[in-house]
Amino acid sequence: ERGGYPHFMLKEIHEQPKAVRDTLRGRVADDLSRVTLDDIHMDEAYTKKVDRIHIVACGTSWHAGLVGKAVIEQYARIPVDVEIASEYRYRSPIFSENTLVIVISQSGETADTLAALREVKQQGLRVLAITNVVGSSAAREADDVIVTWAGPEIAVASTKAYTTQLAALYLLAIHFAHVRGHLADAEVRELIEALDGLPAIAEQVLDTAPQLENFAARYVEATDAFFIGRGLDYSLSLEGALKLKEISYIHAEAYAAGELKHGTLALITEGVPVIALATQPQLYEKTVSNIVEVKARGAFVLGMTWVGNEDLEKSVDEVIYLPKTLPALAPLVAVIPMQLLSYYAAVARGNDVDKPRNLAKSVTVE
Ligand code: M6R
Repeated sequence: ERGGYPHFMLKEIHEQPKAVRDTLRGRVADDLSRVTLDDIHMDEAYTKKVDRIHIVACGTSWHAGLVGKAVIEQYARIPVDVEIASEYRYRSPIFSENTLVIVISQSGETADTLAALREVKQQGLRVLAITNVVGSSAAREADDVIVTWAGPEIAVASTKAYTTQLAALYLLAIHFAHVRGHLADAEVRELIEALDGLPAIAEQVLDTAPQLENFAARYVEATDAFFIGRGLDYSLSLEGALKLKEISYIHAEAYAAGELKHGTLALITEGVPVIALATQPQLYEKTVSNIVEVKARGAFVLGMTWVGNEDLEKSVDEVIYLPKTLPALAPLVAVIPMQLLSYYAAVARGNDVDKPRNLAKSVTVE
């Protein structure tokens, strides 16, 4: 059932190229000229009317939402708030009549996310669910559904659900931007072509596995690790840190690279592993200056950047090179080495990779 893989998590990491391809399939025109989200029932008038979006989710799905916010704001220019479901439902969020609520849930059964969905529906708001389970409560109760075609995700640590959620959010961002006139046809085509290329790129990134296995073996005794990055790389750092904590039980913290010197830098001492994400060319110089700060305190820095950017070798101890894509799409690619890192760290420590202690696959308690 694990298809020859020692754990479901590794199988699911390797299924990502296919999962992303399946999620994109049928949702872009054959000539790649536009997104065709026929499964949602938002007409042009409504798509133009939405003036605010609230994304509500938990855990890894919340991390996908953070990337969603960045791309929806960048391309469609709609203000987006991203909220943790267990926080959102207990405060009084401010809505407009045309606020769209997007709930993201792999299982579609997470108690807090469902409670938030029900609450906003009661207030008359329109809800779009992004879920991986066709008949789930979220799918049944939302007004619109985008199903991610990741296939069953068995490992507690979410991997292919995240990358397919990103694919769905990219489609949505491009769709909104196109309909609302914020992207020209040529820009839409460029984005869709890049999206279309992601499965093949994801395939290539899987080849970084031996490098990460080796790194994980060297840091098997680590008690702490830090993930740093700016912009989308910060959202991704949060996901990298969560994954490492969840299955390797190594304490991990994600920090916006520019914020380190406001406190966390005090924790950087000789030999502490820092995973530095530098996938965003427009933020590259600034990120490097933060990398230099942690290096100066003795950190061991594993950097990640796009192929060809050998400049990073000057400031880090080791580099993972990622095939090039548009910066906005980089999270879907860059998350894969981080999944592999946590996987190999958990294996090296002899943990139950697919069923980490204290955690459940579907969190149906509040
Ligand atoms: O099924 P959901 O997407 O609603 O689940 C949300 C979280 O419980 C989930 O993403 C959790 O954080 C994962 N175990 C992380 O790997």
